This record gives sequence, C-alpha cells and structure tokens, in this order.
Amino acid sequence: MKFFIDTANMDDIREAYEIGVLDGVITNPSLMAKEWIKGKENQHQHYIDTCNLVKGDVSAEVIATTYDEMIAEGKELAAMNPYIVVKLPCTQEGIRAVKYFSGEGICTNCTLVFSLGQALLAAKAGATYVSPFVGRLDDISSDGVGLVAGIVDIYRIYNYKTKVLAASVRTTQHIIQCAEVGSDVVICPLAPIKGLLKHPLTDSGLATFLADYHKVNG
Ligand code: G3P
Repeated sequence: MKFFIDTANMDDIREAYEIGVLDGVITNPSLMAKEWIKGKENQHQHYIDTCNLVKGDVSAEVIATTYDEMIAEGKELAAMNPYIVVKLPCTQEGIRAVKYFSGEGICTNCTLVFSLGQALLAAKAGATYVSPFVGRLDDISSDGVGLVAGIVDIYRIYNYKTKVLAASVRTTQHIIQCAEVGSDVVICPLAPIKGLLKHPLTDSGLATFLADYHKVNG
C-alpha cells in the first residue's frame, strides 16, 4: 500500500519523505489556504518544489468547474512536471475531463467521491486514481471504510486499472482499516503516519535494552 501525504506544508512533506515511506503528495485549495500559499504563481511553484523533492505522484487540483476550463487548466498543471496528476472533481464536467485526459495519457485523480456509483463512473472514464473521502463519510454517520472496501471489490470484479486512493483518512485506525480492505493508497496528514510507530512496549523494550547495555559498558 502506498502512502500519500495530505498537506501543503513543506516541513511535513519533507519530514514524511525523510522517514522514507512517502510515495506521493495530495493537496487541495483548502490545504493551500491553510498554508497561505496564495496566487497561481506561488501555487505552481509549490507543486514544482514538491515534485522535485518527493519524485512521486503529486495531485494538483483544478479550480475550473466547466469542461473547457478544466481541460485548459489541467493541461497547464500537467505541463509543469511529469509527476503531476491532474485532480478533478467527480461531477459531470469532471468525469468528461477525466475521459479526455485519459485519452491523452495524462494521469488524473477523480476527487470528492462519496458513492460506489461515482467510483464506477470514474473508473469507466479511465481515472488513474479515485478518491473516496473516508473521514467525511464517517462525520455524517456513514461508513467511509465500507465505501473503500466496496470500490476495491467492484474494481477487482471488472479488472479496472483505476487505483483506489482512500482520502480524508485522519487516524492510524483508518490507515489500518483501509489496508485491511485492500486500498491501493491512503492519503493522510503526517500525524497518523507517525502514529503507526507508537507502541508502549517498543518504548519500554528499548529503555530496558539501553539500560542493560549501559550496566555492562558504562
Ligand atoms: O484528501 C482530502 C482531504 O484533504 C480531506 O480531508 O480531513 O478535510 O476531510 P478532510
């Protein structure tokens, strides 16, 4: 399973990359706003810096909502770096744009997916990735991981090549659950990735080993 970090914070991207487990980066306009990365030029530079550091897939989201504008904006984003994946919303226009980019050999991430039907259309249109939002479904008493599991099953039945990218993953438990149902990728912030490392027996075991070493070696 691949790990993509869900942030526009360069320090967090660097830290995840240095741990050695980072496969890609996702951002969205809300995450850009959180870091105050304003203006097209700065945002494009952010994408380029991220691609150069991580050397893995970096999803860059279109702001356009009409087909023609999505195509123009997506082409501009894709031209920045070969690692750029054009991120498009799962709307009628977005699916049409996914189909276009798929025909051009440009990678896409179909985002804001909340149902099996949306995921089915994303795969039929040839999306490289589909992003079901786990946490946001859990927020409304729905079953986010259940949706990921359903998409994985349907894609296996029909042998769709689209990768399932579990998004809005917020906890270590979400990561484990998405792994258990066979998600290809999880997208989450740095904290839950680091949370996977935490275990009190690791800490106490290491403390004992070090104490014993020092008893004998000074
Ligand atoms: O990748 C999508 C993600 O940024 C949404 O996460 O926590 O705002 O639902 P969240």
